[in-house]
Amino acid sequence: MKHALRKVVIPAAGLGTRFLPATKAVPKEMLPIVDVPTIQLIVDEAVRAGAQQVVVVNGRGKTAIEDHFDRSYELEDTLQRKGKKDVFDQVRRISDMVRLVSVRQKEPMGLGHAVLAARPAVGEEWFGVLLGDDLIDSDEPAIGQLARVSMQTGKAAVALMPVPDDQTQMYGVAAGPALPDGNIQIEKIVEKPPRGSAPSNLAVIGRYLLPPDIFGILEQVKPGAGGEIQLTDALAVLAREGRLIGVRFNGERHDAGDRLGYLIANIAYALKRPDLREGLLAYMRKVPK
Ligand code: G1P
Repeated sequence: MKHALRKVVIPAAGLGTRFLPATKAVPKEMLPIVDVPTIQLIVDEAVRAGAQQVVVVNGRGKTAIEDHFDRSYELEDTLQRKGKKDVFDQVRRISDMVRLVSVRQKEPMGLGHAVLAARPAVGEEWFGVLLGDDLIDSDEPAIGQLARVSMQTGKAAVALMPVPDDQTQMYGVAAGPALPDGNIQIEKIVEKPPRGSAPSNLAVIGRYLLPPDIFGILEQVKPGAGGEIQLTDALAVLAREGRLIGVRFNGERHDAGDRLGYLIANIAYALKRPDLREGLLAYMRKVPK
């Protein structure tokens, strides 16, 4: 089956409790990596992979996300009058990046529930899901790597990465035979398996390429781990039908949903910036052991 990646869903209704007090009035998706909000990095990945429409699943009090991708008249006018063309172009480029649709998830009932909320905006086509906590720095966008595999095989795809055995309980974990290209034909997938019971050490990282019938499956899914509607439980249905591939993606992944992971992501992205690299390295060399 042939399909292209046109639409992506970005769940963004979470309360960001791990980043309080920063997230009391500011959505966690707006916290910057250096000077770029994490959600802009995620949207950029989707756009580079060919997506034309982004569906943000939003919660109350998070309109800053929509504003960020909208025109900002006062700011643009001021920048233009002051002749700051570079900054003006940078600001304008953000609102021209993509068509953004926002839907509300009225209560936080889990990732599966958030994806289901995007159904009216996605309709009857294949779509990508990108989780804002997982930053993947790679030449070929990670969601594009999944789309490529999905188009070649006609199957759904999730990103997989090996993690240490003592971390599997934090993730969806998948197992199945390896295919000749190194990807996995997933036969089993479980959400946050209790310590010692994981079927493998291959963790699901927040990139998914899904068929439209996932919505009907999600409607049937009963609350699972943590009492929430889990996307993983719907993926388990696809896996049982032989319709789910685990993609061993190329790229460096950062867990920006974790304080230490967020700090490391900031340092890693800053070290790639010619204007910041030397100054940052000079500081780090001075830091006492
Ligand atoms: C979610 C998914 C989980 C996945 C993880 C990746 O969990 O439910 O399957 O492994 O994202 O980051 P969360 O981190 O939201 O608890």
